[in-house]
Formats: sequence, C-alpha cells, structure tokens
Amino acid sequence: GELVEWEGDLAPVRSAVCLRREDGELEQCVIGSTPLLDADAALGALDAAVHAYDLGQGVWPTMSVSERIRNVENFLHRMKEQRDAVVRLLMWEIGKNLPDSEKEFDRTCDYIVDTVNALKELDRRSSRFEIEQGTLGQIRRVPLGVALCMGPYNYPLNETFTTLIPALIMGNTVVFKPAKFGVLLIRPLLEAFRDSFPPGVINIIYGRGRETVGALMESGKVDVFAFIGTNKGASDLKKLHPRPHRLRAALGLDAKNPGIVLPDVDLDTAVGECVTGALSFNGQRCTALKILFVHRSQVDDFLDRFKSRLATLKSGMPWEPGVALTPLPEPGKTAFLTQMLEDARSKGASVVNEGGGNSVGTFFYPALLYPVTPQMRVYNEEQFGPIIPVVPYDDLSEVIDYVRNSDFGQQLSLFGRDPQQMARMIDACANQVGRINLNAQCQRGPDSFPFTGRKNSAEGTLSVADALRVFSIRTLVAAKDN
Ligand code: G3H
Repeated sequence: GELVEWEGDLAPVRSAVCLRREDGELEQCVIGSTPLLDADAALGALDAAVHAYDLGQGVWPTMSVSERIRNVENFLHRMKEQRDAVVRLLMWEIGKNLPDSEKEFDRTCDYIVDTVNALKELDRRSSRFEIEQGTLGQIRRVPLGVALCMGPYNYPLNETFTTLIPALIMGNTVVFKPAKFGVLLIRPLLEAFRDSFPPGVINIIYGRGRETVGALMESGKVDVFAFIGTNKGASDLKKLHPRPHRLRAALGLDAKNPGIVLPDVDLDTAVGECVTGALSFNGQRCTALKILFVHRSQVDDFLDRFKSRLATLKSGMPWEPGVALTPLPEPGKTAFLTQMLEDARSKGASVVNEGGGNSVGTFFYPALLYPVTPQMRVYNEEQFGPIIPVVPYDDLSEVIDYVRNSDFGQQLSLFGRDPQQMARMIDACANQVGRINLNAQCQRGPDSFPFTGRKNSAEGTLSVADALRVFSIRTLVAAKDN
C-alpha cells in the first residue's frame, strides 16, 4: 500500500473547548474529522506493515542504520515546519495551554535528535566483531517485526513519538493508532511521514479500539505492543493475542504517585512543587502527584498555603496568556470527578477551597480535599484530574505501608530536610517505585532518564536509549575462525 493514513468513513472530532448552543446548553465543538476504520481496514494497514517488514522484499528492516537515520532526520526537518499547526491543534483538541503545547512539540523534536544520537552510539558498540576461543562472533541488533504503537491523550505527540520513533529507527514497521483525543494533530504530519518512509513502513489508523486494534491483536501478527494508557486498556488488548509469549510489550500505565511531606519540610518549596506537580495540565499526567501525605504538625500551614496558591491560578482558554487551568477533553470527566468528591465528602472529607462544584462545561476547578482516609475511592483510585487528596499522618511507617500496599509504583516525591529521614524513606521505598524525587514534583523528564514503574504502573523502560532496546533484539552471528 501507498497509504500512510488508512481510509474509512469520516467521524467528527470534538474539541476540549465548549460552545454555547442555541438552546443555551454548552457543547464540545466539532473542529474536524478523521477516518473511522472498521476491522477490515485496520487489518489492511497491518498487512501493509507485515509486507513492508517481509525480509525477502521489505527494504526497511535491512536498510543500513545510517540510511534509516537519514529518513528519520528528514521526517524531523519536515515535522518542524508544522510546529504552528500542531501546537494550535494541541490547544484546541486537548486544551493544553500554549506554553505546555509548545514545550510538548519542542521536547518531541529533541527526543528524536537524542534517539538518533543514542542509536549511533548503540550501533558503534553492537556491530563489532569479537574472537573468543577460536570463534568469530558478531552481535547484531535486529528489529522485531511489526510494532503496534498507541499513545495517550494527555501527550498525544510526545508520548506516542517516544515509542513510534524508536520502533521505526530500529527497523520495525509500524501500525500507529493516535490517542482518542489529540488525533487531528497527527494530520499536519502525514505528508512528512509519506515523504520520509517507504510505503507500508508507517500506517496510521483511527477507529474504535476494540474493533480495530482488537482485530490486529487477534491476528497474531503484532510483534511489539507499545501502549501508554490505562491498565485495563492494555490488558484487554494484550490478552487477545493468540501467542502472548511471542509478543513483546512496552507499557506505561496507571499511577497513584504520592507526595510525602516530612515534619522538617521547607513548606515554600513543598507547596510550590505540589501545586504544579498535582495540577499541571489539570492533573492529567500519569506522572502527576495524585495523593499528598502531610505530617500532622505541618498540615494546617500546608493547607493554608496550598489554598492561597490555588487562588492565584488563572483559568481560561488554552491560548490566553498566563492560563494554568483549562477545559478537560474527556466527555463525562467532570461527572466522574464530581462522583469522586461526593464519595469522599460522604465519608467525612471536605473541599477546603472553592473547588469542584463550580465547574462549567468541561471546566473543573481544582478541589483540595481533606482529610482523606483509606475508605474513600480517591485514596487508592487514580483521579487523573484536578482533585488533590491530602492525608494527615503521624508516623512515617503509615506512609511506607501505603507505598508498599499500593498496586501502583510509578514514582513518589519526598519533601524534607533531614538526610536521615530522607535516606530511611528511600531505602524503604526504592524497590516499590521507578523513581524517587527529592524536594521536587514527580515527572518523566529529562527524557534520557529511565521512564518506568513497578507493579501495575509499567512494563519495560522507555528512556531514549532503553527504547531502542525495547524495539530490537541481539542476535549472535558466529563462525569458526580458521
Ligand atoms: O503522562 C505522563 C507523561 O509522560 C508525563 O510527562 O512528567 O514530563 O509531564 P511529564
């Protein structure tokens, strides 16, 4: 096939932003459309990827590393020409504010450059010959086959490209399904894809997940499944593969990252980091701080300061200057968050600021919730939105128990000054999470650092260099040295 984007009936794409209808109701406005594929069309895209990988005929997997790098660099050059269009769509589709949308675009470009450099380094080290006990060996790093790449709506460019680019550059062919929201922004890049890669190497599909991606998994022809999203989404799809032992998975999943405020904390630093950690992009980040444990001696002061900071956050449209809080793209999200608040309220917590109840359309004003207890849904369940649950504690062992008992293990943040207490927490939690942040919010970056998690939060590691290994295997080619 010559297609990059596979064709189907058109389906409307709604914006995070609402408009008022004639009857006075608010409605998420339609800003474009994408093809809606059925299972057959999705399988057509998969067959194109399988054909382009076929070692007998496909040029991509056997192409030299330097040639593949040239294709990717050409793509990057063309992608940069589309910065304005992509940034505009990030704001409209998912409601990400202008500075964060620009950052997402630029960071993705940097990731591509870093990936190229990491591959040059990996290639230098892995294609050398070695002689051991009369045997000459060459360890080659080779692609795995067809990769299915799916990303989340909160980083529809960056998170998807951190699997898509390593998959391509290692010589795999790809079927790529853009996020549920944040799909239109891929379209300004279609020509760049078409002009940079041979036919069949990259195939973009849209449609209902179970119908399209479900059919691809059932076919058994997917070799690598790269998915950033929910546990349920990943496991429902993974179990459809008829030969799971032949499927490599790289998964970035749910999280419930705790921020832990120790008794000797510098409150200014802690509150500043907790506000941005919990509320950047309205808390819709897998790396957001999702529950705060505050030592009882600090809790009143902490809540007062947090409340004052909240009052300074400006809400508005993503393109307006200085706006921190923006509309949420997921229909039904404000209802879900309201239910979580109601559950906590009915079990004894209060919203200590004006948050939650004053939501309009797709806006949900952040709710600082206190005191949160283990009986409440928000204690263990991921909210993925602007609710900030605060739990008071007396002894660090209570927090250590929470970290150890949690089904998630992406990251945590520690706020304090006493090196002994910090060391105790690091030792107690180091095997429970993928990253521990000291006096800083949880975050993915810098992207060269390992991005992973334990328990139900991840499978595999997606740093720049690790991602190259995820999408390849080492094979030894050996001969007697005569
Ligand atoms: O949603 C998960 C993202 O990888 C978070 O990245 O920590 O840079 O916002 P970030």
